[in-house]
Amino acid sequence: MQYTKEDIQQLDKVTCLKIINSVTGIKPANLLGTIDNKGRTNLAIFSSIIHLGSNPALLGFIVRPAGEVPRHTYENIKENGVYTINHIHPKFTENAHYTSAKFDDSISEFERCSFTEEFITDFKAPFVKESTFKMGMNFKDAIPIPLNGTIMVIGEIEHLVYPDDAMVADDIDLEVSNSVGISGLNSYYALKKIGKYPYARVNETPDF
Ligand SMILES: Cc1cc2nc3c(=O)[nH]c(=O)nc-3n(C[C@H](O)[C@H](O)[C@H](O)COP(=O)(O)O)c2cc1C
Repeated sequence: MQYTKEDIQQLDKVTCLKIINSVTGIKPANLLGTIDNKGRTNLAIFSSIIHLGSNPALLGFIVRPAGEVPRHTYENIKENGVYTINHIHPKFTENAHYTSAKFDDSISEFERCSFTEEFITDFKAPFVKESTFKMGMNFKDAIPIPLNGTIMVIGEIEHLVYPDDAMVADDIDLEVSNSVGISGLNSYYALKKIGKYPYARVNETPDF
C-alpha cells in the first residue's frame, strides 16, 4: 500500500483516522485521573503521553480540540492544577477503553468503568488503585497548536509509584510492570522486551 498526501485527504473520515492514528507505532496506554472543584472525579484514556525531559521531570500529552465536546480532563486540570497518569495493565484494558465514552460530568468513569479511586498523601487528584505504575502530576503549561486546534498540556512529576521488581538491572522493564501499548484507537498490545544495548558510542559500535 502506498498513499500520497492527496490520497490521504480523499480517504473517508473513519479510515483516515484509523490509519493515521496507527502510523507512529505503539503508543503508551494510560488513564488520566482528575477531580473538579465540586469534588467529582473523572477518568479518561489517553495515548498521547510523551516524555519531554528528565530534569525537571516533564511529560506532555495532547488534548483534542474542544469544539462542542466537553473536555473534562483538561477543564479539571485547569481548575485544580493536578492530575494523575496511570499505566493500563492487561487485566483492565476493556474497562479502560470505555472511559473514552462521552459520559456526563455527573458520572465518574471510576465508578462506571469499575476502577477504584486512590488518594496518595495530600495529593488532590485521584490515582487508579488497580494500576501499579502511576504518577501524580503538577500542571505547568498548556501550549495551543494552531495547526489543528489541539493543546499540548505539560506537567511535572510530583509523585512516582512503580513495582519494585520493575527495576531490572538499573532499568525500568515495562514487560515486568505489565504495562500495555495502544495502536490506533481500538487495539491493545502486551509488551515483550526483545533487546537491551549500552549507550551508543562511535568507537564501540559493532561491525555489522
Ligand atoms: C485508545 C484511546 C486513546 C485516546 N487518546 C486520547 C488523547 O491522547 N487525547 C485526547 O484528547 N483524547 C484521547 N482519547 C479520547 C478520550 O479518551 C475521550 O475524548 C474521553 O471522552 C475524554 O474524556 P474527558 O472528557 O473526561 O476528558 C483516546 C481514546 C482512546 C479510545
